[in-house]
Amino acid sequence: MTLDTAQLNQQRMPFDDDAELWLFGYGSLIWKAEFPYLERHPAYIHHWARRFWQGSHDHRGTPASPGRVVTLINEPGATCQGMAYRINASTLHALDIREKNGYLRELITLHFADGSHAEGLIYLATEENAAFLGAAPLDAVVEQIATAYGPSGSNRDYLRHLATALEELGAEDAHVFTLAAHVRSRDKSDSLISSEQSPCH
Ligand code: SIN
Repeated sequence: MTLDTAQLNQQRMPFDDDAELWLFGYGSLIWKAEFPYLERHPAYIHHWARRFWQGSHDHRGTPASPGRVVTLINEPGATCQGMAYRINASTLHALDIREKNGYLRELITLHFADGSHAEGLIYLATEENAAFLGAAPLDAVVEQIATAYGPSGSNRDYLRHLATALEELGAEDAHVFTLAAHVRSRDKSDSLISSEQSPCH
C-alpha cells in the first residue's frame, strides 16, 4: 500500500506558478534533470545523510517487488552534497508527480560553494510514509537493488548514475559508494559463474 503525496504537496505548500525558488536534489534529481530550470549549481545541506531507505514502487520497482531509492535521514554533523536548481514554481506540478511515492516538500537551507546560502525545497520521504523501508543488512540491500526493475528502468542504473554523479561532484558518500561497489562485484561474480558454466566451443 503506497501513499500518493502529489496532491498533499500542493495543498500543504502552495506557491504562485510564476514564483522562483531553489530546489535541492540529492538523488535522481541530481543526474536526471528532465525538467526546466533557470540555473543550477552544486550545493550541500547540513545535518542530513543520504540513504537508500525509501521503497520505489513506481519508478525503480513495482508494488510486488519494490526497489530502493534515496531519502534523507537527520544526522547531526553530516553533510549531504547535491545539486541546487533555480526553478519556476510551475515546475513543481510535474515534480510532485515524479516524487509522489511518499516524498513531501520541505524547506531547507542550501549552501553554495562560494559561501552563500539560500532557502530552498527538498523532497523528503520520512519514516512515516507508507513506502519507507529503512535500514536492512548490506547483502539484502545489494540484492534488492541489483534485481529490482520498474517503469523508469533498473534499480541498479539508479544507483550507478547516482554514484557517477556524486563522483563528478567530488562528493563523499560512503553509503552510496559502498553499495555501488557491492553491486558491481556481485555482477562480476555472477558473470564469472555463468562463463564457467557455459560450454566451450
Ligand atoms: C531527489 O533526488 O532529490 C529526491 C529523490 C529522488 O528522486 O531520487
